[in-house]
Amino acid sequence: MSITLPELTPTQESLFLTLGISALDSRLPRPFLGDPMADEILKASGYDLRRFALFRSERLDPKTKVFSGAVRAKHEDEVVTRFVAAHPDAVVLDLGTGLDTRVFRTDPPPTVDWYDIDFPTVIDLRRQLVPEREGVHLVAADLTEPGWLADIPGDRPTMIVHNGLVPFLSMSDYQSLLLRLTRHFQSGEMAHNSYTRPAVWTFKRVFGDVPGIGFNDPRAPERWVPDLKLVEEIFNVRSPEVAEIATSPAWRLMLGAIASSTILSRHLEATVLHYRF
Ligand SMILES: C[S@@+](CC[C@H](N)C(=O)[O-])C[C@H]1O[C@@H](n2cnc3c(N)ncnc32)[C@H](O)[C@@H]1O
Repeated sequence: MSITLPELTPTQESLFLTLGISALDSRLPRPFLGDPMADEILKASGYDLRRFALFRSERLDPKTKVFSGAVRAKHEDEVVTRFVAAHPDAVVLDLGTGLDTRVFRTDPPPTVDWYDIDFPTVIDLRRQLVPEREGVHLVAADLTEPGWLADIPGDRPTMIVHNGLVPFLSMSDYQSLLLRLTRHFQSGEMAHNSYTRPAVWTFKRVFGDVPGIGFNDPRAPERWVPDLKLVEEIFNVRSPEVAEIATSPAWRLMLGAIASSTILSRHLEATVLHYRF
């Protein structure tokens, strides 16, 4: 299969960074995430990953390149899988889905309705590259605009997941989105990778100016949206997979020191934030 890629904005093009991480992870002898479909989609897209410095770097070995992105996605998947196992009638929303194949990785039963939401250009591309699947609904919308939620049932247990989205939304757009979601859905959970303020600052070096600023305190969303309660912070640096990248005594010492501090774990490696509402 070969396609012509549409003109993508830098925000939309960022989907190839996360897709590329899943694809490269799948080529490791022992992948963290294990998503061979991501690699098939990447190859079918014809996209050249060398546009991203992460993939051009010869300083980092492949495992270290993908660790942050692949392990955080795995943690998000685990939250989704647990939720769907407990609620086979769930509705799942993947906000800013890009070309991610999370629905295939987590493999919910057909009783689950799964909504993949992104800009119309990305959803068109997704239709060309990601196989269809029973129970999956594609929603072509700008998340900052009201209206796209209207056709999604609000009375079923709801899992909201997003990965790589926060920097692309201004703080007020992100807060309004959370308020709209928690008003529309009666109850559920949300899991997403965290972006601290320094992380977004670094992100801007790669993607240019983005409207988001990030937040350091994982409890901040509880203050913006009274119904949201933090369940847990899931730190990459405290997960068993870290042993795979701690290849020298000095690295092991350093990663162990980071893992022993919540502040350092939060700021120096990827974290997944898990809430309920
Ligand atoms: C870094 S990519 C992550 C893609 C996917 N979640 C993944 O993990 O592979 C960010 C995605 O968010 C989408 N996005 C950003 N702002 C959005 C908005 N306002 N409405 C819809 N999608 C948006 C982009 O188009 C892009 O696909």
